Amino acid sequence: MVPPHSSLYYCCQFVLTFALFSLHMLTPLEASGSRVEHLPGFQGPLPFELETGYLGLGETDDDMQVFYYFVKSENNPQKDPLMLWLSGGPGCSSFSGLAYEIGPFAFEIKEYDGSVPSLVLRPQSWTKICSIIFVDLPLGTGFSYAKNVTDHRSDWKLVYHTHQFLRKWLIDHPEFLSNEFYIVADSYAGIPVPAILQEISNGNEKGLQPLINLQGYLLGNPLTSYREDNYRIQYAHGMGLISDELYASLQRSCKGEYIDVDSRNELCLGDLEYFHECLSGINLFNIVGSFCEDDLHMWRRSLTQELNASLNSRLTVPELRCRNYGFYLATKWFSDESVRKALHIREGTIGKWERCYRTDFEREIFSSVEFHANLSKKGYRSLIYSGDHDVVVPFISTQAWIRDLNYSIVDDWRSWFVNGQVGGYTRTYSNQMTYATVKGSGHIAPEYTPELCFPMFTRWISNLPL
Ligand SMILES: *[C@@H]1O[C@H](CO)[C@@H](O)[C@H](O)[C@H]1NC(C)=O
Ligand SMILES: *[C@@H]1O[C@H](CO)[C@@H](O)[C@H](O)[C@H]1NC(C)=O
Ligand SMILES: *[C@@H]1O[C@H](CO)[C@@H](O)[C@H](O)[C@H]1NC(C)=O
Ligand SMILES: *[C@@H]1O[C@H](CO)[C@@H](O)[C@H](O)[C@H]1NC(C)=O
Repeated sequence: MVPPHSSLYYCCQFVLTFALFSLHMLTPLEASGSRVEHLPGFQGPLPFELETGYLGLGETDDDMQVFYYFVKSENNPQKDPLMLWLSGGPGCSSFSGLAYEIGPFAFEIKEYDGSVPSLVLRPQSWTKICSIIFVDLPLGTGFSYAKNVTDHRSDWKLVYHTHQFLRKWLIDHPEFLSNEFYIVADSYAGIPVPAILQEISNGNEKGLQPLINLQGYLLGNPLTSYREDNYRIQYAHGMGLISDELYASLQRSCKGEYIDVDSRNELCLGDLEYFHECLSGINLFNIVGSFCEDDLHMWRRSLTQELNASLNSRLTVPELRCRNYGFYLATKWFSDESVRKALHIREGTIGKWERCYRTDFEREIFSSVEFHANLSKKGYRSLIYSGDHDVVVPFISTQAWIRDLNYSIVDDWRSWFVNGQVGGYTRTYSNQMTYATVKGSGHIAPEYTPELCFPMFTRWISNLPL
């Protein structure tokens, strides 16, 4: 798992970083990003500060251009934390985090009539209290591009590029060097993000400049061990989706192994078949949510295939009540020339915008548990939260790997509240890791229950108990 050319990478990066720094000292170049004052679909000037831009990671100007959206804190950007957002997938645009989860605007969900889709403000935007860089990585994602995208798509490349991007971004934005820095992500990003944090931490220790004021991370329903599938059976039973008898039979016939099933074990295969049938009409990302046709083909597949299916662009128009309708509106919005112009997208670099670009991504990290253990040893804070109605990364699988870290409990299982109502349950460990469930929420918790996730985030980032 140790990257073969990491020392080379450090060396080059160091030189590059240094060169860039000098350049900026000599000539006050314009910042890499540009301010966006207006956006098509939104009336009047934006009531928050948005900057978009590209940062080049390659040796030539036309190679490895990483696109980002940066939203300044609406509170006190000098003091408030700085966060980097990475969407899951792998290969989903960070715009997903911005427009559907924690950013300052969302699409107004109404029938598309051919005009530019309308934007509305999100009252629970996390940018109310912190600044967020939404970055399109791995290369090929969103508006990021490269001469040969295929060359740059793997877990470790994503790790290096994110680290490199961040140091460069901070060189261009030195006013944020002293702010506390966090990474926030969910779903598939549970695999690369702990490795990214370790790279940043190691880089700081090696004296890479500029120093990153790394404090910790937040992960929502994060893929972590690739063993998540194994917990679905127990989860489905607990949630009343399968019978006691089927559950007992599954345990007997499969002996706790539901991923690598022996093809001769007909009893287990038969039980699994029945299990899948029981879940076939369920929205696996949010079991109480609408089941949409998109989900129809998902149910027989493994977790990774499922993430795949749900992320791929659709060919037909989704129903208005489906989550994917919002994704459909984004595709329409981005195909409007005025939108691309407003966002300073370089002409001719990207054809049709895809929410998720999934081609040729090489998986190299198959568990991030050891990274979590390493980060804990170094004292970084973390909040791991689970929408408790998600079958894809069910909360019990997350609780299992957290338990396996063997840290003692400093604040034991209890409810946390929003407006006098239980928002979920939480437990804090001696490694500065807080775990929380978000009651009634799904795989992408801030999207389903912003009214719970925003207070949860606000308390945690302010060092208060949930
Ligand atoms: C792009 O990169 C891939 C993976 O390294 C390589 O197989 C392919 O030949 C490259 N394509 C071009 C046009 O250089
Ligand atoms: C996910 O989708 C990509 C691109 O369509 C494909 O190459 C890959 O094999 C899929 N992975 C799984 C686990 O189905
Ligand atoms: C965790 O840290 C140790 C000690 O620095 C290191 O040898 C190991 O490779 C790290 N684990 C991972 C998964 O990187
Ligand atoms: C936690 O404890 C178990 C049992 O003693 C051990 O097998 C495991 O390696 C420990 N995990 C870590 C991360 O230290």
